[in-house]
Amino acid sequence: MKILLLASGGDAPGMNKIIFNLFKKYKSNIWACEGGFKGLIEGKIFSLSCFEPEKFKNQAGCCIKSARCLEFKTEKGFKKGLKNAKKFDAVVILGGNGSFEGAKRLASKGVKVVFVPVTIDNDVGISEYSLGFHTAVKACCDAIYNIMPSMNAFNRCCVFEVMGRKYDKIAFAVAQVTNPDALISNEEDLNFSKISKIVRKNFKNNNSSFIVIRENILSLNKFVSTLKTMVKDIDIKTFVVGHLQRGTKPTKVDLKKANEFSKCIFKSIKTKNMLDAVTVKGGKTFLKEY
Ligand code: F6P
Repeated sequence: MKILLLASGGDAPGMNKIIFNLFKKYKSNIWACEGGFKGLIEGKIFSLSCFEPEKFKNQAGCCIKSARCLEFKTEKGFKKGLKNAKKFDAVVILGGNGSFEGAKRLASKGVKVVFVPVTIDNDVGISEYSLGFHTAVKACCDAIYNIMPSMNAFNRCCVFEVMGRKYDKIAFAVAQVTNPDALISNEEDLNFSKISKIVRKNFKNNNSSFIVIRENILSLNKFVSTLKTMVKDIDIKTFVVGHLQRGTKPTKVDLKKANEFSKCIFKSIKTKNMLDAVTVKGGKTFLKEY
């Protein structure tokens, strides 16, 4: 049995644990594409042992390297990738929505594929949880908890920008835990008169403020310069949590999920289903055939 593993899109904490679990189970029967679908097109396929998965099992990142690959969406690129994928009995794909599209396309051409939802954004339609989300949210909350004591010492206002591309799940979860003075998770939340009123009131009451804003709504510079015109005497600082969300050591929750996801992959590899996806619904992890 020959298995191929690839990771596509943003790396996510917990990904390395799955990679290690697969290596432990399949040893010399598993290969990895270096750099996702790009690696598949270019035939950058090596024995998984080359990537030393044991060394990275509890770390964030992606030891087999990930990539974003537009070429795989073209007919020419896809054909090249398909040719290499067909050399394997099963292909395991770790990634988000875009990767699921690639998985479906390969399966439709006769490649057995197991798709695994792995992205901090938690935006994979077929699963209520995608690996890495818990760690990403924790990284944001930790940043807030570690920065605000200093802001409190000066009654400052700090604006925290969190990732999530165009999805608001990270921003929402962070707000649920930390209870910011303002949450801007979508364009409609950009109510400067309301936000400035809260910030001014806190300042008057000898307090600091903090705001959580999701990336890709308004540039942080623009947000701060607009707010500044309305709260002139208050010092505003900014912190972009950014890739700390992806680089933070996976939480116990994500490591446990990675183990659950791995068991589903093992199960799928034993079946003849052309396309299976690891799915979480109602808190339960299971395998869904497509
Ligand atoms: O999809 C995961 C994610 O971290 C998004 O939240 C973010 O917008 C994007 O990837 C950043 O990608 P890159 O690391 O390529 O800049």
